[in-house]
Amino acid sequence: MENSALKWWETAVIYQIYPRSFQDSNADGIGDLPGITSRLDYLAGLGVDAIWISPFFKSPQKDFGYDVSDYCDINPDYGTLADFDELISKAHALGLRIMIDIVPAHCSDQHEWFEESRQSRTNDKADWYHWVDPLPDGSAPTNWLSFFGGRAWSWEPRRQQYYLHNFLPSQPNLNHHNPEVRNALTDVARFWFDRGVDGFRLDAVHTINGDTAPYQNNLANPDFVPGDLPQQQQPFFRQLHDSAQLNQPAIQLFSEAFRAVADEYEDRFLMGELHGDDPVLASKTFTAPGRLHATYNFNLLAWAGLNVTEMKDAISEAVVAFNSTGRLTFAFSNHDVPRSGTRQLEPLGLAETDQEALQLLLLKLETCLIGSTCVYQGEELAFDDVRDIPVEQMQDPWGIEFAPVFMGRDTCRTPMVWQEDAPQGGFSTANKTWLPIATQHLKRAGLDEVKRPNSTYNAYAKFLKWRKKQAAMMTSNTMSELSGEDHQIVFDRISDTQTLRCCFDFKTLTATFEEI
Ligand code: BGC
Repeated sequence: MENSALKWWETAVIYQIYPRSFQDSNADGIGDLPGITSRLDYLAGLGVDAIWISPFFKSPQKDFGYDVSDYCDINPDYGTLADFDELISKAHALGLRIMIDIVPAHCSDQHEWFEESRQSRTNDKADWYHWVDPLPDGSAPTNWLSFFGGRAWSWEPRRQQYYLHNFLPSQPNLNHHNPEVRNALTDVARFWFDRGVDGFRLDAVHTINGDTAPYQNNLANPDFVPGDLPQQQQPFFRQLHDSAQLNQPAIQLFSEAFRAVADEYEDRFLMGELHGDDPVLASKTFTAPGRLHATYNFNLLAWAGLNVTEMKDAISEAVVAFNSTGRLTFAFSNHDVPRSGTRQLEPLGLAETDQEALQLLLLKLETCLIGSTCVYQGEELAFDDVRDIPVEQMQDPWGIEFAPVFMGRDTCRTPMVWQEDAPQGGFSTANKTWLPIATQHLKRAGLDEVKRPNSTYNAYAKFLKWRKKQAAMMTSNTMSELSGEDHQIVFDRISDTQTLRCCFDFKTLTATFEEI
């Protein structure tokens, strides 16, 4: 829409690509950057504004790229820097912005910074991580736990000290108290901005630690009730984290330093994945003036799925905090949670045959909310979650650790399929792909769906075109309170020139829009 005073990212529809599973171009069974480049027309045709690519940097792939061993180079599985330059130049020519996923909180234990740091207490990088002496009884310095299970501290015999990791032991937390660390990470930001990147999704920023010893114990969570899902029953959730381990004020040294770098360039966007005991407070703190532009909100990503009332509450909570701003990003799905189409069916009392209609409704709903939206690859095809991956083919370290009770995140990470009648659904010409191809997805393969007039892909593309013409959505980020009957979500989007009533009905699975 012309004449909008909003920045591009305040209304952007951002398509998330999990590069390992998008398109393989060199027959190794793993998706790669040239593969993404070859599918950009498909994304431009859908009508999204930007692409967020999950990490493709050098990495031993213990957490599939969220364990970086060189922030300024490409993992050979995914291609080369020249491939990235080609991707970005073709994307820009098609009008698509490119966001990449920087992991500032931790790196791989195979990063040269950590390899040096762990050698002794006196080397040049000695203070680049959180190193702490054991307590007199030899135990770890605090009661902190890791997201992926077990203690957040691991022992390094060379230094006779513990180091902090909020995820795998092979993902040591960087010490953001040290200005050298912050400078190293802001240099990374400049490296990618100089290559033309339009923004960053900043991974797990609430887990950045900028404090120094002595660290405090987390408090027990007095309201802990084991959730329905196995991962919610982990002891991790028995603690309050913002009392010591996460979201400490010193994190903002990082967000302010990153914002200052983004401001050296024109029109760049910083979207922080962040959470906390009080997510609204964390989001507001991180997006205060001079910090990150927007918060990637978790409310609609709830693992178990939400019924209509819960969805209303989840949306309201975030909107109340951010109404009339573009500082909010909603998503129903990503590479960490079961796919929304499947996850929502049961709480909404729907049948499997409703999946396509439900998926389209969810896509439209999230895209009509204020701020930006992240659509995860395959949502535009109404892919379901893949629940039958044999244990011996599982890849996610979290799932491997806790199977069969918790099967991890592979269920939403299987490769995209593009053509029903092509080998491996057109994803790869290899005999074996890194995760198996989900045969149930073949009936809605991407390029086939582009040709099918009534596909979810085409319906969403049509909707996105229509949305671009609505002043209420493109020139303002204001919405009314949510209303409607129990099975409906109703709200108005409001600009100076248009008020648009948006109604999402979860009985008829239809969205209707009316100018009032
Ligand atoms: C990413 C996960 C990753 C974790 C550790 C996140 O929140 O989305 O996929 O495992 O950070 O980097």
